[in-house]
Amino acid sequence: MITLLAISLAGCGKEEVVTNVGKLEFEQPLNIPPLLEATMESDGSKHFTLTMQTGRTEFLPGKMADTSGINGTYLGPTIRAARGDKVSFDVVNDLGEQSTLHWHGMKLPAVMDGGPHQMIDAGKTWSPHWTIDQPSATVWYHPHLHGKTAEHVYRGLAGMFIIDDEDSKKLPSNYGIDDIPLIVQDKLFTDDGKFLEDDEGIFGTLGDEILINGTYDPYLKVTASQVRFRLLNGSNARAYHFGFNDGKTFKLVANDAGLLQEPVTMDRIMLSPGERAEIVVEFEPGEEAILHSFNGHAGIDSGEFDLLKIIAAPELAESAPIDGQLSTVPEIEAPENARVRQFKLTMENKINDKYMDMYRIDEVVPAGATEIWEINNFGHSHNFHIHNAAFRVLSVNDKEPPEYERGRKDTVFIPNGSNVKIVVEFGNYADPHYPLMYHCHLLRHEDDGMMGQFLLVEPGTESEVPTTLPKKE
Ligand code: C2O
Ligand code: CU
Ligand code: CU
Repeated sequence: MITLLAISLAGCGKEEVVTNVGKLEFEQPLNIPPLLEATMESDGSKHFTLTMQTGRTEFLPGKMADTSGINGTYLGPTIRAARGDKVSFDVVNDLGEQSTLHWHGMKLPAVMDGGPHQMIDAGKTWSPHWTIDQPSATVWYHPHLHGKTAEHVYRGLAGMFIIDDEDSKKLPSNYGIDDIPLIVQDKLFTDDGKFLEDDEGIFGTLGDEILINGTYDPYLKVTASQVRFRLLNGSNARAYHFGFNDGKTFKLVANDAGLLQEPVTMDRIMLSPGERAEIVVEFEPGEEAILHSFNGHAGIDSGEFDLLKIIAAPELAESAPIDGQLSTVPEIEAPENARVRQFKLTMENKINDKYMDMYRIDEVVPAGATEIWEINNFGHSHNFHIHNAAFRVLSVNDKEPPEYERGRKDTVFIPNGSNVKIVVEFGNYADPHYPLMYHCHLLRHEDDGMMGQFLLVEPGTESEVPTTLPKKE
């Protein structure tokens, strides 16, 4: 039954297109998650407090949903720090149940990663700390507890983490003015405005309403001629093909893990769950533009949605057009003798014929290595995310990847039936005790066990580390 349905979804594209077109009034001002204030510690580190909590939130006018949030009732504040900063956190779990908080896209010691091995019990506080040592990027944070990530993220536990460096500061960087986060999530609502989770589908919950930064029916007024938008697909399963209703173009300036070498002008970009992109959009005084997601068949539901109306002020602060070199970080290149690893994705949501086992190590990688990972998808569409790593897409079915997949990434869409090759640059911190994850970021699949564990170890010690982990009581 499940298999048949999957084939029809992946194959013919006859399913009805989910859409909200013509339905929105664009009446609610877009919520901009507040920037989280840091306190300076005596050792020079920036200290932040994040409290995971439950609450109630009004999305549909006059109706309340039970939600979770961080320092609020839905989503969390934006954290901003620069390359070289020391950061430390108190993550307080007031949810009344276990959870974790993972820093998606961050290179850090494995024990600070916030994955399934860094469980925070109800009522407890977890205090990770590290030095930010990677190029500027739009990363994000969300729970990562094994088997319940979909539920926790869907209820609202997620937020953005902006890393700045000298290169990124040349782009519009005035948060909330010309540097705007857009966390895009689809939801199913009950008639009385509560969140509904769909337990049936193959891909997980696919909503027919869209929230941006937790705002339903949003508009945004802008006052600058060049605006940088940080798009984050924070949805459980849905992919979006972002563009503007009138075909207006924009410049892609960054992907998941950093700036592109130079901006690329385009009118459409696809993001699957967990992926980010930074785009710069140019506005004329008084212009109105509607950010839209087009229906693009990719073996994964995208649907067709109006997302956000952007209204430019009659007079705009002018800034120089975005041109020339952006990143001074070289492209990720494979060394000649790069190790190649194979990963097989299947219809049963397995990786290399295995489901996730918290006590099994699937791969051992030398810290700081650059390797080629080749992913073959024999199932319905999936995507692939690697912790503590940045990669460049080398090919999709032996062809050049789409233009919007250039540059540094940490999550990539893997269409059904495809072969995707990536060159992966791993983090430098070795730790033989705490594994890191690679997995499908469609959260239903991840929860089903479509995830593997790898260790980053001192180069030369690969064969010495055990391939099982001791069971904890
Ligand atoms: Cu966004 Cu392993 O996670
Ligand atoms: Cu991650
Ligand atoms: Cu998947």
